[in-house]
Amino acid sequence: MERPFVCMNMAMTADGKISSAAREYPGFTSRRDRKTMDRFRAESDAVLVGAGTLRTDDPPLHIRDEEARAYRRSLGKPEGLLNVVVTASAAIDPASRFFREGPASARIVATVEGAPAGRVEALGRCAEVWRVGRDRVDLPELLRRLRARGVGRLLVEGGGETNWEFVRGDLLDELYVTVVPALLGGRDAPTILEGEGLSVGARRRLRLLSVDRLDDEIYLRFSVAR
Ligand SMILES: NC(=O)c1ccc[n+]([C@@H]2O[C@H](COP(=O)([O-])OP(=O)(O)OC[C@H]3O[C@@H](n4cnc5c(N)ncnc54)[C@H](OP(=O)(O)O)[C@@H]3O)[C@@H](O)[C@H]2O)c1
Repeated sequence: MERPFVCMNMAMTADGKISSAAREYPGFTSRRDRKTMDRFRAESDAVLVGAGTLRTDDPPLHIRDEEARAYRRSLGKPEGLLNVVVTASAAIDPASRFFREGPASARIVATVEGAPAGRVEALGRCAEVWRVGRDRVDLPELLRRLRARGVGRLLVEGGGETNWEFVRGDLLDELYVTVVPALLGGRDAPTILEGEGLSVGARRRLRLLSVDRLDDEIYLRFSVAR
């Protein structure tokens, strides 16, 4: 296979928002949802976020749940995942948790040829910096390089702009959505997919793989139909 199998995991409110208009940390998920997220991570070789998510949330990208860690060991995978962030600007604080927390097997900043040299140099002291593309990170090329690095399964964890780039490029295989029992509203509050979007005629079709309910939360798993 030329590229890893690409899964996306996101939590949204019942009105489809992944955060508030003020881009607050999406602390609306349950313990069970965080366990589910850790299980998806346990099955993956790498986890990827956009720079926007790193700048607003700087989420820990390792597996905290002990059961999920044991499951990962049973799969014969190393303790840490490869952590990847995509950024054109390279405007990322080298002091971010991304660069220091958890047993990541490697940390990769995927950026572009035109990224400011000073920022790239600073990030190069705490991560591998890959220049993949001129103005935008060329995602198919990034995926080829990750595959060559041994990544068979990549988990994309947002946010909406980054997710959109995967969908636009038809690079997504499965989507996992947790619907949480809450409403946020807000025309500027982000959703799972941002970007310019598709026309109805060009919509991506999904197949529902499973639905689970626990208390008031719903867990949906879809595959992308091709
Ligand atoms: N509920 C959830 O499950 C969940 C999960 C994750 C995030 N979130 C929320 O999502 C929000 C952030 O989402 P967002 O859409 O604003 O940002 P985002 O998707 O996290 O990041 C967007 C940034 O990623 C970089 N990027 C993405 N694709 C790129 C490409 N192909 N080439 C170069 N750079 C690329 C760019 O960085 P540069 O600007 O540096 O060039 C771009 O501005 C936050 O509010 C966060 O809380 C929610």
